[in-house]
Amino acid sequence: MASQRIAVTGATGRVGRHVVDVLHEWGATVVPISRAHGVDLITGEGLADALTGVDAVVDAATAPSPEGASGFFSAATRNLQEVGARAGVQRLIVVSIIGTDRFGPGGLGDYYVAKVEHEQSALAGPIPARILRAAQFHEFVPQLVEWGTHGDVAYVQNMRTHVVAARKVAEALADLAVDPGSAPAPPGTPILEIAGPREENLLDLAVLLTARRGMPLHVEAVSDPSDPNSEVFESGGLLPGPYATLAGPTFEEWLEAEVALARS
Ligand SMILES: NC(=O)c1ccc[n+]([C@@H]2O[C@H](COP(=O)([O-])OP(=O)(O)OC[C@H]3O[C@@H](n4cnc5c(N)ncnc54)[C@H](OP(=O)(O)O)[C@@H]3O)[C@@H](O)[C@H]2O)c1
Repeated sequence: MASQRIAVTGATGRVGRHVVDVLHEWGATVVPISRAHGVDLITGEGLADALTGVDAVVDAATAPSPEGASGFFSAATRNLQEVGARAGVQRLIVVSIIGTDRFGPGGLGDYYVAKVEHEQSALAGPIPARILRAAQFHEFVPQLVEWGTHGDVAYVQNMRTHVVAARKVAEALADLAVDPGSAPAPPGTPILEIAGPREENLLDLAVLLTARRGMPLHVEAVSDPSDPNSEVFESGGLLPGPYATLAGPTFEEWLEAEVALARS
């Protein structure tokens, strides 16, 4: 394993940075990919050099804003597949989202529709690909609160979720990346899923976060009954299936550790 060379896109992101750390700890040679590292997945700048001699790619990049997701994923995946195949990359491991195929276009649903396009373009080859669908990351809750804050109120979608630590998702991605038999998926196997230890409601997580971080915000859950995607969030469309891997810590344990670290 120590001789494997693995590229990680989104290497500065919430989950990608952990994939880089885990692979380093396991003794792999890691090629971090992001614009901060001088590689652009959309223009292709620096990509051929970055993928030279690479055995596997973990794709953990995403568009700078959710609105640009559709064009981003199709262009980035096409470039990874084309340039990676020329470089001899053996497998592509893609992180997606549990329940993403339950959403329709419009509003927040557009990002999930784009993730399905992402999965399909990765699986179209030529490099064999494997999808790991994850629940929302613990690390994503602060972002959702920030996006929803207007004045002193944070509006969050009424959402059932099974939040998971990005580090646990990263370990699962790294496991697939170093396994020469991980891609393609064996025929008939369900799509891999990873989630946290228990179901939560985003409102409770946001209240906990703002309280523990001392943020002077009132948190409110929002729901649009005329939006069919609201129904998916509220009815458990993002929850894992029976074959999912469930991994701690809980959001509260993760938050306590983060607050303690910030104080030390
Ligand atoms: N967030 C969640 O809760 C969650 C849950 C399940 C699955 N996922 C999936 O996990 C993946 C990563 O999400 P995340 O939240 O970790 O992302 P993130 O923190 O927003 O990080 C995005 C990464 O993509 C890179 N990037 C953006 N544009 C780029 C470009 N043109 N070329 C090269 N790199 C570029 C960024 O680096 P630069 O800006 O330096 O380029 C950054 O490293 C996504 O596919 C997402 O759908 C996320």
